Amino acid sequence: MASRVAIIGAGPSGLAQLHAFCEARKKGADVPELVCFEKQSDWGGLWNYTWRTGTDEYGELVHSSMYRYLWSNGPKECLEFADYTFEDHFGRPIPSFPPREALFDYITGRAAKSDVRRFIQFSTAVRWVSFEEERGTFRVTVERLNDRDTRTEEFDHVIVASGHFSVPNTPAYDGFRQFPGRIMHSHDVRDAQEFTGKRLLVLGSSYSAEDIALQSRKYGAESVTISYRTAPMGFEWPDGIEEVPLLREVDGRTAHFADGTTRDVDVIVLCTGYQHYFPYIEDSLRLRTTNVLYPPNLYKGVFWLDNPRLAYLGMQDQYYTFTLFDAEAWYARDHVLGRIFLPPREEMEEDIAAWRAREAELADPLEQIDFQADHMEELLKEVDYPAFDVQLTRDAFKAWEHHKEESIIGYRDRAFASPCTGTMAPLHHEAWWDEMDDSMSTFLGDGRRRDEFSASAAPRPA
Ligand SMILES: Cc1cc2nc3c(=O)[nH]c(=O)nc-3n(C[C@H](O)[C@H](O)[C@H](O)COP(=O)(O)OP(=O)(O)OC[C@H]3O[C@@H](n4cnc5c(N)ncnc54)[C@H](O)[C@@H]3O)c2cc1C
Ligand SMILES: NC(=O)c1ccc[n+]([C@@H]2O[C@H](COP(=O)([O-])OP(=O)(O)OC[C@H]3O[C@@H](n4cnc5c(N)ncnc54)[C@H](OP(=O)(O)O)[C@@H]3O)[C@@H](O)[C@H]2O)c1
Repeated sequence: MASRVAIIGAGPSGLAQLHAFCEARKKGADVPELVCFEKQSDWGGLWNYTWRTGTDEYGELVHSSMYRYLWSNGPKECLEFADYTFEDHFGRPIPSFPPREALFDYITGRAAKSDVRRFIQFSTAVRWVSFEEERGTFRVTVERLNDRDTRTEEFDHVIVASGHFSVPNTPAYDGFRQFPGRIMHSHDVRDAQEFTGKRLLVLGSSYSAEDIALQSRKYGAESVTISYRTAPMGFEWPDGIEEVPLLREVDGRTAHFADGTTRDVDVIVLCTGYQHYFPYIEDSLRLRTTNVLYPPNLYKGVFWLDNPRLAYLGMQDQYYTFTLFDAEAWYARDHVLGRIFLPPREEMEEDIAAWRAREAELADPLEQIDFQADHMEELLKEVDYPAFDVQLTRDAFKAWEHHKEESIIGYRDRAFASPCTGTMAPLHHEAWWDEMDDSMSTFLGDGRRRDEFSASAAPRPA
């Protein structure tokens, strides 16, 4: 059995991995030595909000891409830990779309309960990971940021859980150099009140574009123009938000679009996605991929094909998040513990190719949801993760897609049933569009049951 395992990152994926090992140990398994390296001074990954942008106090790239007023964009029931439900954590049912602070509390609540903090070396950045063929071990070089102490340790397994929504993809357009306002990436957005009274141009047509457009308008932006590259999101936007084709160039403050129209804007926000960026991993071990549901060279979406003692967690584009990370972490754990054996390389390669070929044929988000649910269930069926109603989560995600089409400002005013307890969530006491306070205390302050509050169950008109 492996004697030392390195886990890189203490976000939801890394914490899931530590927790999975703790659960095995509780049931009597002989668990190897675990060392988790986390470059931030606290756990939670992206959910660990910071006011900083650019570089941190040590000169490291700021990891978190989250901002104030960020609420869950999917139903929390689709990410509920089966072994630590929302009711377990909060002591009662809570609404389906919590703000960031409540989800941070939930993720770290389970980690605190299983006491995984003792395995984490905080403010410690991994600088290089390589594999020593002769010794058959990984060499991991880390730097302790507060005293700049650098050292190299040897591990039998390495589990990469350093996330992939942190390093921006920043395309350039003609005229950017002369633009007399601010051009920023969504990674650096911290507070939408910065945009009050301003005319925004948002580039992109995915979740960041949707959310930053909506909340900028909610907190008082004068107007928001969303420019899409491939296809518009096509929602019925509230007054003051509109979608236009791709930006061609900017001339002074005037943005020119592919349909020949123009808009004068004050701020440009690039909601153009992120890079899978692993500068600390040697070339032969480094995942290179765009943001897809089944990245290349990862068997089961987890194991590095050329050396399966290296695992990557959470590298997919994500409908499912925390439960998918749990499924991957449990599976990776059981491989480390010698409970799961991987097939020969050729078979793994064929399996990856089959999943990727299926992904290429997916027609719409509903098929993508089933694809990712199938992937998750394939992992779950081989591990001892507690059962939960995956079909309910598939249905919830599909209903959520429809709710968004019905009302983009009202979809967060819906409630879903827990796939673990069956309990129906209550509704938040304010409609999301009117709720300006995203603090956990306000969120938890007045949770009424859906049946007491059914008048608000219908989405509000735009
Ligand atoms: C703006 C935004 C909003 C989102 N909202 C939602 C949402 O509402 N619901 C949802 O389910 N998901 C949401 N997500 C998806 C998010 O990816 C997951 O929820 C989750 O945070 C991924 O967890 P992770 O542990 O894989 O990665 P991360 O959360 O990114 O954590 C990675 C950790 O690795 C550490 N690390 C990185 N490099 C190193 C290094 N070299 N050495 C040591 N440590 C390192 C980082 O500091 C970080 O703590 C959102 C993502 C973004 C960008
Ligand atoms: N809780 C929340 O409310 C919330 C808020 C924000 C983000 N998130 C999460 O954050 C993650 C990342 O989402 P994301 O929207 O940042 O990234 P993303 O889903 O990868 O989308 C990237 C977008 O950028 C566009 N794009 C890329 N290059 C471009 C270019 N050169 N010019 C114009 N457009 C370009 C893409 O357009 P094409 O379609 O043409 O490729 C796509 O629309 C997701 O998991 C999401 O759920 C959650």
